Amino acid sequence: MAPTYKTNGMPFRKLGPSGLRVPLFSLGGWLTIGGSVVGDPVKDIIKTAFDNGINMIDTAEIYSNGKSEEEIGRIIKELGLRRTDLIITTKLYFGTRTGPNDTGLSRKHIVEGMKESLERLQMDYVDVVFAHRPDNTVPMEEIVRAFNYVIEKGWAFYWGTSEWSAREIEEAHHVADKLGLIGPIAEQCEHNMFHRERPEKEYEPIYKKYGTGTTVFSALAAGLLTGKYNDGIPEGSRFANEPMFKGNAKSLQKKEGHAKVQKVRELTKLAKGLDTTPGALALAWVAKNTNTSTVILGASKPEQILENLKALEVLPKLTPQIMDKIEKVLGNKPKPEYPRGRQRLDISAKL
Ligand SMILES: NC(=O)c1ccc[n+]([C@@H]2O[C@H](COP(=O)([O-])OP(=O)(O)OC[C@H]3O[C@@H](n4cnc5c(N)ncnc54)[C@H](OP(=O)(O)O)[C@@H]3O)[C@@H](O)[C@H]2O)c1
Repeated sequence: MAPTYKTNGMPFRKLGPSGLRVPLFSLGGWLTIGGSVVGDPVKDIIKTAFDNGINMIDTAEIYSNGKSEEEIGRIIKELGLRRTDLIITTKLYFGTRTGPNDTGLSRKHIVEGMKESLERLQMDYVDVVFAHRPDNTVPMEEIVRAFNYVIEKGWAFYWGTSEWSAREIEEAHHVADKLGLIGPIAEQCEHNMFHRERPEKEYEPIYKKYGTGTTVFSALAAGLLTGKYNDGIPEGSRFANEPMFKGNAKSLQKKEGHAKVQKVRELTKLAKGLDTTPGALALAWVAKNTNTSTVILGASKPEQILENLKALEVLPKLTPQIMDKIEKVLGNKPKPEYPRGRQRLDISAKL
């Protein structure tokens, strides 16, 4: 018998303007599932997540060159999870091969890439497919038509964007509206205490206009916000092991890196006062943002999932006073955009 899914206290939010309800915390497979973690340990991670209310898993065709999707598909089968209990999202763009049509957002790659992802996942459909990057070499009409086709075929229920500019998302909506096609429902974007301009400022108009949802990645700034790098690079950590993070490791020796670590130290003190960890505080801070639909957790061990889910206990502790204290430590709140050249009509600055 399939294990029964229980929310176990996990809150759910609607994914943008769609009817899909996503858990506030989900699980991602970048660098970990099928990469640094293979075999039974993947099962431990996915089972721990599922048993604690995380029924949404994010992956991509490029993650560990297809291995992430394969491992997720295999483990879901082995655990006997019911497909209807799960929300599976994947992303297309980077491909698993290097041929001229094996990457990007041409209709050819979107359709072929989608079929290959489903094969690796051993599934008939994903819940959401994301365009992993914008592709300005392909007409927007071709991209929107291709994702619409994928949805009409039943291979995905919804589509979204990832790391697209607000202008590009807006263009996709214009094209979809003009042609009577389905537009994107969500943006998979980076949002954390050190990365705020795009999710908090640039996207503000599209949240308002299209109700765009966000599936947030790197909410821990790749682990930096847990405080694990406060006293150097621990063995076995992402900054120590992953070649693409060599630059991050080096930057911790520089002025900018020192300043970040100093902020994490101050956040650690603030977290202690709330009887929690800096990691849980950082995750709760992203989850508190009402434009966040789900925060995708990255985890190399099951214990990290349990630790990170403590963010749910921190959420109600984030009073306006605590949020102000965090803001003072960070000192990087994006400035709101004001219409240029127009006089203020009102001294209290409601323009
Ligand atoms: N659309 C995109 O372009 C894009 C880009 C990036 C990520 N994503 C998605 O978002 C997911 C999460 O991104 P991310 O992995 O960058 O998230 P993250 O939460 O910023 O970093 C996760 C990493 O931090 C470390 N960590 C997590 N919890 C910890 C804890 N409690 N204590 C100590 N270390 C801890 C682990 O690395 P170590 O243990 O190895 O140090 C873990 O793999 C990805 O899996 C992927 O699905 C999407």
